[in-house]
Amino acid sequence: MPGELIDGKKIADEVRAELTSRIASLAARGVVPGLAAIIVGEDPGSKLYVKMKGKASEEMGLAHWTVELPETVSEARLLGEVARLNSDPKVHGILVQQPLPPQIRVDRAVAAVDPRKDVDCFHPTNVGLVLIGRPRFAPATPAGVVELLLRSGHDPGGKDVVIAGRSNIVGKPLAALLMQKAKGANATVTVVHSGTRDLSAHTRRAEILVAAMGSPRFIKADMVRDGVVVIDVGINRIADSTAKGGYRTVGDVDFDAVRAKAKAISPVPGGVGPMTIAMLLTNTVRAAELLGEA
Ligand SMILES: NC(=O)c1ccc[n+]([C@@H]2O[C@H](COP(=O)([O-])OP(=O)(O)OC[C@H]3O[C@@H](n4cnc5c(N)ncnc54)[C@H](OP(=O)(O)O)[C@@H]3O)[C@@H](O)[C@H]2O)c1
Repeated sequence: MPGELIDGKKIADEVRAELTSRIASLAARGVVPGLAAIIVGEDPGSKLYVKMKGKASEEMGLAHWTVELPETVSEARLLGEVARLNSDPKVHGILVQQPLPPQIRVDRAVAAVDPRKDVDCFHPTNVGLVLIGRPRFAPATPAGVVELLLRSGHDPGGKDVVIAGRSNIVGKPLAALLMQKAKGANATVTVVHSGTRDLSAHTRRAEILVAAMGSPRFIKADMVRDGVVVIDVGINRIADSTAKGGYRTVGDVDFDAVRAKAKAISPVPGGVGPMTIAMLLTNTVRAAELLGEA
């Protein structure tokens, strides 16, 4: 029997539905949570993500703005835009969409966002708060992974979790969330990467495997054990002449073959992607609540 599907769209809808009463309480105080996105250049993936975030904000009754800057924009101009949004009281959440062109230092852009408005949870202060187990915001994609696990009945507590990938956006903050001595965490976490000697030896041990490598269908059936729970974070475009537009989106997991051995698995698309957006909306509402208390 193929593994059960972990439906990210359905779970994201649950998370979003739980936000409505919080948004109504803010509205009663005259506050509309507002999310501003800065996008630099014409990267089609970035444009699509920012558009989806804007659409999701609108659907939830949140305000949103997109600041579009040219590929050649200077770092000073970008930082100026961030400063403007930092001081705008209508803006509760700010995200600077990555990737950024080489003239802009990612560290500078990330650190320029007011930590109280840093709904991506990339600012060093917020990263540190996650690590010590006192998060202001939960990093969106990693928190989406945790919600997928919990709400599909796969509590990571006490389990061997292997995360493939150690980026600052996914792998590292996910490891930080899952290793906490806390409800919904408390896992034994291994992080594998390009410096790992025998990657399959680790992935085959995993009771829960999270793939976040950006490498299409990298995780094969012989790299997992029977009964594994798999969360696939990867979003990769591969050429496919039979698909509309000539390409198709796949994850980092060889889906059909791995599903045949898995207890449960999240698909791509329709897995982590919708959760990332739901968690970003959650953070924007939280930012509006916290700024209201300040
Ligand atoms: N669904 C969502 O909402 C969402 C959000 C964010 C990202 N993503 C997707 O998730 C994937 C990962 O994103 P990212 O930003 O974390 O990527 P990234 O910054 O490129 O990091 C990839 C990580 O995977 C490791 N890796 C790559 N190929 C490997 C290999 N062959 N063997 C061992 N390790 C390997 C790299 O190791 P080294 O560190 O050693 O180089 C690195 O740590 C991408 O497909 C991205 O599009 C999805």
